[in-house]
Amino acid sequence: MLNEGNKVIDEKRQGEAVMREGVSVIGKKLLLESYGCAMNFSDSEIVASILDDSGYSTTRDAEEADVILLNTCAIRDNAEQRVRRRLGFFKSLKKKKPHLVVGVLGCMAERLRENLLEEEKLVDLVVGPDAYRELPGLIDQVHGGQKAVNVLLSREETYADVAPVRLDSNGVSGFISIMRGCDNMCSFCVVPFTRGRERSRDPKSIVAEAQELLEQGYKEVILLGQNVDSYKWNLTAKGEIKDKELPTVTFAQLMEMVAQISPELRVRFSTSHPKDLTDDVIHMVKKYENIANHIHLPVQSGNSEILKKMNRGYTREWYLERIEAIRNVIPDCAITTDIISGFCGETEEQHRDTMSLMNEVGFNMAYMYTYSERPRTLAERKFEDDVPEEVKGRRLQEIIDQQLLFTGKKTKAMVGKVHRVIAEKLSKKSKEHMSGRNGENCIVVFPKENFKPGDYVDVMVTDATRTTLIGEAVHLPNG
Ligand code: SAH
Ligand code: SF4
Ligand code: F3S
Repeated sequence: MLNEGNKVIDEKRQGEAVMREGVSVIGKKLLLESYGCAMNFSDSEIVASILDDSGYSTTRDAEEADVILLNTCAIRDNAEQRVRRRLGFFKSLKKKKPHLVVGVLGCMAERLRENLLEEEKLVDLVVGPDAYRELPGLIDQVHGGQKAVNVLLSREETYADVAPVRLDSNGVSGFISIMRGCDNMCSFCVVPFTRGRERSRDPKSIVAEAQELLEQGYKEVILLGQNVDSYKWNLTAKGEIKDKELPTVTFAQLMEMVAQISPELRVRFSTSHPKDLTDDVIHMVKKYENIANHIHLPVQSGNSEILKKMNRGYTREWYLERIEAIRNVIPDCAITTDIISGFCGETEEQHRDTMSLMNEVGFNMAYMYTYSERPRTLAERKFEDDVPEEVKGRRLQEIIDQQLLFTGKKTKAMVGKVHRVIAEKLSKKSKEHMSGRNGENCIVVFPKENFKPGDYVDVMVTDATRTTLIGEAVHLPNG
């Protein structure tokens, strides 16, 4: 049935001619590339939906595209460099096809605005994350011979009514964006500038989207936000109650609403913020079998002074207390994190605090970066980016080496138990095997037998590499 769900979308995408306001528009081809975080990939599904309504179908082939849109990331300088290199590649294509429209969407569009038109001459279109509804009109404007820019940020836009067109989906796991923007102003971070103020999406539309995914055969939803713990429905941007008749909904309550749709639908969420992660959320993860035992809780640094300079709103002790709170309620909960090495003024001793915190917690997995100064951020204005690149790099390597040891240990500790896995696809290494993930988000490989993507499989894990569990399905008498 999941294939049927996908087929419907594929057929819709292939539509040759689409009616729009009574005018027949010849089907045009859109190449949409996404960079950066899951929120950006989720936004691309909204963009595909908006343009699908205007007669654009997606293609992977740049040669046949009429419109190329890059949904970009600005989080670190190297993320932007990657996009610029890709734009360079499209230059030759545009020489061959002068009518090709090239647009930049997302965080780099919002950060650089019309300057992008100056800097990258081939760009025709610059559209920020809150202006995607305007895309069809803006593309028409480019066809009319003008460059087009819309980078207005909104306090209300959540695209709640736009049904995403699932792109590159495995038909098993789907993103649902539950909020947009971020109000935290961590001093290193560009996101509040590129995504604007935090706003939560109507819970009814979130539940409806999850329900729809389930009906299409999906088995997992991933609730997305920059800081999901501060989800709060029914407040205006000024913090006033919007509708006095409606109750407020917290993130823990939202999770419960989604978890109750069906025990067959696994619920994941990202990203949690250590200053806002409540006991209610932890207890909700515990309460529902179908909420995955995994919390992504970026720490950034293990030193309280650095955390203060980062404006993270918590100390090392507070973070460790939250870890204890999780472990007290859910001893086997997977905990993953993000770490930045070499933030402004970071001393060797402060770096060692990060190493020792990692030791104390024992993360299952981590995303690890060297600090990259971003224009307009608090850190850029207030502090000097004074840790030499080679020192940042060496500290990062120490962090990575230590994390690899823990990842291996944590994976090995899962051997010898039965894990509930959602099968996703054939294993990369063998057609006789399938791979899927357990609740802790670890990859599990097992003999294919007659399983299909989307099946729940109980796998007895007998062996492990550093990142992958290996085992065999157990067939329980009643299931
Ligand atoms: N909202 C999430 C993180 C979003 S950005 C949170 O608050 O945790 C993802 C990660 O990129 C961050 O957690 C951080 O580790 C990293 N990051 C953000 N800005 C960065 C910068 N200027 N340099 C290096 N890494 C950065
Ligand atoms: Fe950036 Fe901090 Fe917001 Fe995360 S919480 S997006 S790191 S400002
Ligand atoms: Fe990048 Fe924007 Fe996400 S800066 S990490 S794409 S919110």
